[in-house]
Amino acid sequence: PIFAKGDPPTSLFALISGTVKISISSPDGRNAILNLIGPGEIFGEMALLSNWVRSADATANTNCELFTIDRREFVPFVRSQPTLAMKFIELLCERLRSTSDQVEQVILQDLPGRLASVLLRLTERRKLTEGERTLAITQQEISEMVGMTRESINKQLRAWATRGWVRLEHGALVVLKAEPLQALIEAGPDDSD
Ligand code: CMP
Repeated sequence: PIFAKGDPPTSLFALISGTVKISISSPDGRNAILNLIGPGEIFGEMALLSNWVRSADATANTNCELFTIDRREFVPFVRSQPTLAMKFIELLCERLRSTSDQVEQVILQDLPGRLASVLLRLTERRKLTEGERTLAITQQEISEMVGMTRESINKQLRAWATRGWVRLEHGALVVLKAEPLQALIEAGPDDSD
């Protein structure tokens, strides 16, 4: 654990290497993953900028190298730098947009659409190009991002693997064809099920 939901904020984090999971959990032990942070991204800005407690748990998913900036230095620095403040506004808008997409999918999409959206969002965010769209993610983590059981995620991924859209590896997934996944999202839920 790096910090937990409800903790008072001490610093802002920038990830140099590794993966950090941003998640929330229910009292009965279920998890929802809100975001996976990759190298070059920052996290922990919300509690600092709003002067409130941490909004979610942050956990190192792999060995991580982190750069931290103390709250007492960060806040005055942002106040004195309008360009930097604008960058944080952009980042927060991007996170809000991504959360709105997730809400839209939970309410309006079926499992294939939700799963396809998560896979494309992860490959696009990491700017992975054709041929190297390998996501270091387990099916359990995907299930916690999509909000469906691991068994149903596994069944759907196997069907797509048979069609050559994805390849399943141990602890990883390779997106081989983004176009049919995109088409599936745009077509919306299949009402014939
Ligand atoms: P903070 O509230 O300080 O601690 C948890 C961090 O997780 C938060 O700052 C953001 O950096 C990040 N975070 C929280 N909610 C989301 C979300 N919905 N999407 C992406 N990142 C988030």
